[in-house]
Amino acid sequence: MFVAIMGKIAVPIKPMPTFQVAVKLKIWGDFNMQLYEKYRPKTLDDFIGQDKVKNQVARLMARPGWDRDAIWIQGPSGTGKTTLAWIIANTVASGLFIDELDGDKCNVQAVRELERTLSLCAPNSWRCVIINECHSMSRQAVQAWLSLLERLPKHTLVIFTTTENLKADLFGNFSNPFASRCKVLSFTNQGLCQAMAVKAHEIAEKEGLNGQPIEKYVRLVQDCKNNMRAVLQKIDSCEMI
Ligand SMILES: Nc1ncnc2c1ncn2[C@@H]1O[C@H](COP(=O)(O)OP(=O)(O)OP(=O)(O)O)[C@@H](O)[C@H]1O
Ligand SMILES: [Mg+2]
Repeated sequence: MFVAIMGKIAVPIKPMPTFQVAVKLKIWGDFNMQLYEKYRPKTLDDFIGQDKVKNQVARLMARPGWDRDAIWIQGPSGTGKTTLAWIIANTVASGLFIDELDGDKCNVQAVRELERTLSLCAPNSWRCVIINECHSMSRQAVQAWLSLLERLPKHTLVIFTTTENLKADLFGNFSNPFASRCKVLSFTNQGLCQAMAVKAHEIAEKEGLNGQPIEKYVRLVQDCKNNMRAVLQKIDSCEMI
């Protein structure tokens, strides 16, 4: 039992039941979380737009014998690339076996380290690696990946996300060498305005941060160029009260 000293009087403090501590931590965690993290979709049902990509993913995962893959997700910022990568990863693997790394931290040692751990998992569980902003990877890391992608162990999924177009002159090559080794999912930021505005309005209302009609949310989404993270940041900064 802990004792708190208030002035000169020692006051015994009752230990808090574990579940109460958990609830408090959860509330504190939610309170501290940025809105865009708190409302990151966990399932495709909550995911706005990108119907073509969603169909591609559903077909891919339903393929008989699908047991390893590399996916390249490209598209504008704040449209859900990392979110989708996590939804896919969580569908095939348990959180313990999912790693996320930023491209600028993904050097050749990191790729070798990941390679060593690829087959270390529970039987039948997948191992997933998400590399965000993969256009920032070092040249040696790129070479290491290119070779590794051709001999991925069973039940391995590697997902690269980037705002750079696959056709761009990436990694000093005229054509991106990942194109022939990955399934490519191309995000768009077109046609999302209305759906994003409705979602943003709903979130603002839930958070007690709403004081504007829906038209203002449409304008906000347009101003943010359909970047949902930017929209939620504006709401978080009380701009819609
Ligand atoms: N399609 C979407 N549906 C619902 N919410 C979304 C969507 N896209 C983005 N968001 C919201 O914006 C946040 C940021 O999304 P995310 O990090 O997945 O974008 P991104 O495309 O990876 O951006 P960046 O290129 O800047 O890394 C999410 O946590 C979520 O709150
Ligand atoms: Mg991202």
